[in-house]
Amino acid sequence: LKNDIMDKENLLNKIDKRKLPVHIAIIMDGNGRWAKKRHLPRTFGHKKGVERVDEIVETAGDIGLKYLTLYAFSTENWQRSKTEVAVLMKLLHHYLVKELPRMQKNNIRFNTIGDIKKLPDFVYDKLVEVKELTGNNSGLTLILALNYGGRDDIVNAINSIIKNKLNKVTETEVSNYLYTSAIPDPDLLIRTSGEQRISNFLLWQLSYSELYFTPVLWPEFDKTEFYKAILEFQNRERRFGGL
Ligand code: IPE
Ligand code: IPE
Ligand code: MG
Repeated sequence: LKNDIMDKENLLNKIDKRKLPVHIAIIMDGNGRWAKKRHLPRTFGHKKGVERVDEIVETAGDIGLKYLTLYAFSTENWQRSKTEVAVLMKLLHHYLVKELPRMQKNNIRFNTIGDIKKLPDFVYDKLVEVKELTGNNSGLTLILALNYGGRDDIVNAINSIIKNKLNKVTETEVSNYLYTSAIPDPDLLIRTSGEQRISNFLLWQLSYSELYFTPVLWPEFDKTEFYKAILEFQNRERRFGGL
């Protein structure tokens, strides 16, 4: 345990506070496999996963990150069993109820991306409430991607553009119609669980993000793993197509 604490502090000290990413996006994957390894139902993995969300959000706030986006439910995740979807919705509601006081205390502004109107009413109402109540906070902006799909995001933007009868659009205008219009593009994308794909996450927004894949399953992705990802990011050379 002592070694572990030293490890964490060493890693934290290595992080260059002047070169922090502004926006980190995370595909939190591997809850089901974590549970399976332990002969537990998948939903236990989701419960454990929520505990990691607490830890990562707190760490993000501590290091002074401005935006953290977490992929919590994709437009494709409706294909899962009714019970799994129901458990995920309950966990989400429970998380919001439990975390609201802490968001207020830690100056966290809560937001979402994705078509949240299609979520069950009890979840939707809570989301709206937490967004409103934390809307004036000025620390970390925590964004949950819920019923989010990168293609849905783009199609949605196109439909709004058509409605506004714009006939020729610029990249900036497209950006302004996406769910992320008020949020800078992610500097760093993290995906846990060893899968190396985007799974319909921020398709437009990730065009120049640094990608970080780790085999660690989401329920085991702790503070130390988060620091490792940030350190790796700081060692990358970003070029944006230039020299
Ligand atoms: C990620 O874990 C959580 C959600 C998609 C909601 P998974 O449930 O996808 O876990 P694996 O990929 O089956 O291990
Ligand atoms: C991506 O994980 C979605 C979330 C983490 C919410 P999935 O587990 O749904 O993605 P695939 O099926 O492995 O591509
Ligand atoms: Mg998965």
